[in-house]
Amino acid sequence: MPQLTLLKTARILVKKHNFTGQGLREAIPYINAFNGKRFVLKIGGSVLNDLTLLPLLVEDVVFLKKVGINLILVHGGARQLSEAMKARNLSVELKNGLRVTSSEVLELAAEVFTEISQAIRKEIEKNDYKGAIFGRESGLVKSSQIDPSSGLGFVGVPQSVEVTLLNALAKDVIPIVSSVTAGINPGDIGFNVNADDVAGVIAAGIAAEKLILMTDVEGVLDESGRLLSTLTVSQVEELIARKVIHGGMIPKVQTCLNTLRGGTQKCHIIKGSARSFMDEILTDAGVGTEFVRDDFINEKLNK
Ligand SMILES: Nc1ncnc2c1ncn2[C@@H]1O[C@H](COP(=O)(O)OP(=O)(O)O)[C@@H](O)[C@H]1O
Ligand SMILES: [Mg+2]
Repeated sequence: MPQLTLLKTARILVKKHNFTGQGLREAIPYINAFNGKRFVLKIGGSVLNDLTLLPLLVEDVVFLKKVGINLILVHGGARQLSEAMKARNLSVELKNGLRVTSSEVLELAAEVFTEISQAIRKEIEKNDYKGAIFGRESGLVKSSQIDPSSGLGFVGVPQSVEVTLLNALAKDVIPIVSSVTAGINPGDIGFNVNADDVAGVIAAGIAAEKLILMTDVEGVLDESGRLLSTLTVSQVEELIARKVIHGGMIPKVQTCLNTLRGGTQKCHIIKGSARSFMDEILTDAGVGTEFVRDDFINEKLNK
């Protein structure tokens, strides 16, 4: 980045984010290193549960975009969908963190998630930027039905991403992807997919620099509720076997492992508060749980 732009960036950072002294010195090298790179952010936790927090998050997303860090936003909307289902007397049932989805629930999910995408786009536009919504109709992500014997109905597993569609986007658009996707077979009505999986397949498809999954807890916790800040692939497998990792955390950690195998450099699970992901991206210490390949740790130890 040229000196002048760097200076301008520094000023914006100080003003908007109260970065001072050390914090600012820390952030600048990251901004330089990540310039032109793509990150996939699955929005979750309080930011998604309470859309009044969206302005702070979106402000940061647009800021990062302006300094050359490209975020692709992915979201579901579990709370809003459960509320809409209850209002129609549809019973909410989860199996291993996945929602049993009838065709009626699928249509409702598509409707509810589109509204959330629109709320995010509106917020982006308030920051004088453009957002592009990729829902089921866009066919950006295509899925196939999860094992039908699971009794989950129209729940899908992502199979492909139209990478060219994302690449073709003008440089100054922020993509917003919701987690009801098209199907791979002609005639498929689409599938309800765990938003973590959607974020993961996109990150792998475009070889994103980072995948960040926001949730409602600090990260992966051990049996005593303490945060595990770094985990390797084999440690995760052991924690699942011991059932320390269970429920909705399972698809999340599996997504992280799959994307690491697919070539994404880093995957993080963090608590979805309005400003948390800036701290994750732009500070040395980071927040939440970071996932790395086993050989990464070995390389570090051998150095
Ligand atoms: N080891 C663990 N550490 C942290 N959370 C865990 C763990 N095992 C299971 N969980 C559960 O996973 C939940 C997050 O998954 P989920 O409810 O699907 O949220 P999201 O909407 O972010 O996908 C946590 O709220 C927690 O109840
Ligand atoms: Mg979940």
